[in-house]
Amino acid sequence: MKRLVILISGRGSNMEAILRTAAAEQWPAQIAAVISNKASAAGLSTAAEAGIPALAVEHRHYPDRDSFDGALAEAIDRYAPDLVVLAGFMRILTPGFVQHYHGRLLNIHPSLLPSFPGLATHRQALDAGVKFHGATVHFVTPELDHGPIVEQAVVPVLDGDTESALAARVLAHEHVIYPRAVRDFVEGRMWLDGDRVRRSAGSR
Ligand code: GRF
Repeated sequence: MKRLVILISGRGSNMEAILRTAAAEQWPAQIAAVISNKASAAGLSTAAEAGIPALAVEHRHYPDRDSFDGALAEAIDRYAPDLVVLAGFMRILTPGFVQHYHGRLLNIHPSLLPSFPGLATHRQALDAGVKFHGATVHFVTPELDHGPIVEQAVVPVLDGDTESALAARVLAHEHVIYPRAVRDFVEGRMWLDGDRVRRSAGSR
């Protein structure tokens, strides 16, 4: 049984997709805790209602990134996770934190990386005039929105798209690829080897 800790900052729809899929597919995994850097994150109530320990470690209570990341890691490590899943977790993490979870820290980013790292990715895509956009699941490395790619989903950019229409189209795909990536990890069929993502033979 693998243990997961999910980190969120807000709505938590990716977290919900993971909870739902884990239950429906009976993964060999336990969602040990959901942790937010904001006590007001809506996703915390969703997790608590599902009977999952849900807690906040609020970044605003810490003077700098190092002390926040230290407190966060301490809270996470109480649950002894095999995998830490960043699901809309809107904080830049320190290299020490990222190193501590090397090979067991996944993120989803709403663009086809390496295009459009950072914020406002749907706006960036519309401004660039790309015809295709999407989402990427990757292992986290110290460089923001980089790291070995596990999964990508591609969506078309349509004439007249608004930022919110494009975001909704991408999000629907996030809810498919993120649970799939996490499942492959917990089932031991996908892992990080140096800076490459490996898969067991026949897993895809
Ligand atoms: C998602 O688009 C995710 O890719 C990005 O932030 C959003 C979080 O949404 N990092 P939710 O909290 O999972 O609903």
